[in-house]
Amino acid sequence: MKLWAGRFSKEIDKKTNDFNSSISFDSRMIHEDITGSIAHATMLGACGIIEQSEAQHICDTLEQIKADIDSGKLEIDPNAEDVHTFVEGELTQRIGTTGKRLHTARSRNDQVATDIRLTLKKECDALSQQIRELITVLCNKALLHKSDVMPGYTHMQRAQPITFGHHLMAYAEMFLRDLGRLRDAKNRMDELPLGAGALAGTTYPLDREMTAKLLGFAGPTNNSLDSVADRDFCVELASAISLAMVHLSRFSEEIILWCSWEFKFVELDDAFATGSSIMPQKKNPDIAELVRGKSGRVFGDLMTLLTMLKGLPLAYNKDMQEDKEAIFDAVDTLRLCLTAFIPMIDTMKPIPENMRKAAAKGFINATDCADYLVGKGMAFRDAYKATGTLVAYCIQHDKTLETLSLDEYRTVCDLFDDDVYEAISLERCVNGRKVLGAPAPENVAYQANRVLKLLEEN
Ligand code: ARG
Repeated sequence: MKLWAGRFSKEIDKKTNDFNSSISFDSRMIHEDITGSIAHATMLGACGIIEQSEAQHICDTLEQIKADIDSGKLEIDPNAEDVHTFVEGELTQRIGTTGKRLHTARSRNDQVATDIRLTLKKECDALSQQIRELITVLCNKALLHKSDVMPGYTHMQRAQPITFGHHLMAYAEMFLRDLGRLRDAKNRMDELPLGAGALAGTTYPLDREMTAKLLGFAGPTNNSLDSVADRDFCVELASAISLAMVHLSRFSEEIILWCSWEFKFVELDDAFATGSSIMPQKKNPDIAELVRGKSGRVFGDLMTLLTMLKGLPLAYNKDMQEDKEAIFDAVDTLRLCLTAFIPMIDTMKPIPENMRKAAAKGFINATDCADYLVGKGMAFRDAYKATGTLVAYCIQHDKTLETLSLDEYRTVCDLFDDDVYEAISLERCVNGRKVLGAPAPENVAYQANRVLKLLEEN
């Protein structure tokens, strides 16, 4: 039986019902729906809108329904129109007229807006927890590898020396910003729409502050139309999740490169890699590839939400039912990706020798060589040119700056002396980069410890 049966002389067409129904994806909010109803009934009783005893009866029965769902005694009817209809129908079936009083001063429009906010607030917390775990893993690994020199790249060309720890901490910074965005999104969705009714509030003397408090919201929303028409919070969360996916995807791309024989900077644990059905030698970074691949669907979810909203007149329109599959998919995808990604990173073995080898071959100390000449009084532009000439000479003769003889150095510039070898040693180049935020090992340790402490305090 439909909630709105009175106006209609026929049952709804079966296929129309299937098309209209949201139960297949909104039943995951059944706990939040019941919790919301219990708070609403409690408030109705406290305000004298329904009898206290009836409010109590409703709340007790809703608790029973929740327990029966959890124990599997009660199954969700796949033909119900939505989760709200299902719960109210079950309540009425169990306690008759008293159950029918629950929907006083409420619409499914403010109810669904409340359920989604309650659900997403929890999801924000769960995702934040996972991201914190990831950042912790990164900081601990960065501390272990704070002195392992590797080439830093621009344009995918070896550029200047950094350390593996420094590289990992770059990702820690990105994920810290993701945490901040999740916190912001959660804070802004922390207002209770219940009490807005269908769109225009209600004439019943509701205590919306009380319902907000009971449900753990910072307070009630301030405009009834906006309360039921707003899905900004879904867009904001999808956008925060999209950026987190961008970060995971960029990281994945690097891991895929690092796992190749061309780099071999890391070795994935066998438990977090896969083989090939035909090529016996293969060990593939499938997790990283899937994470990179899944970022696309999350951006799609964000686009779905933006497009769904952009042409909607106030207030509620059925288009808005499309919010849930999109935002839940975004939430679930990020959760799934993090669940696979975190242990993969945690168990991955860096190979510092190979990083060092790559760092030695790419002339990544050329800037430091020029800086050496600057230290001897030469203008940087001239020093740059002299070093460029040396690099060209090295390439021609298959040498590196470290293996040039002093005579060879002096053919280009007589300011070179024995101390040049010390000045261009990779360790010295990295250790000297001590300016705030730069890759010197002591900096990396400082940053990793700072972030770990930050996580501990918040
Ligand atoms: N299933 C609906 C949704 O998800 C609930 C709200 C229905 N409201 C209505 N006026 N038809 O949006």
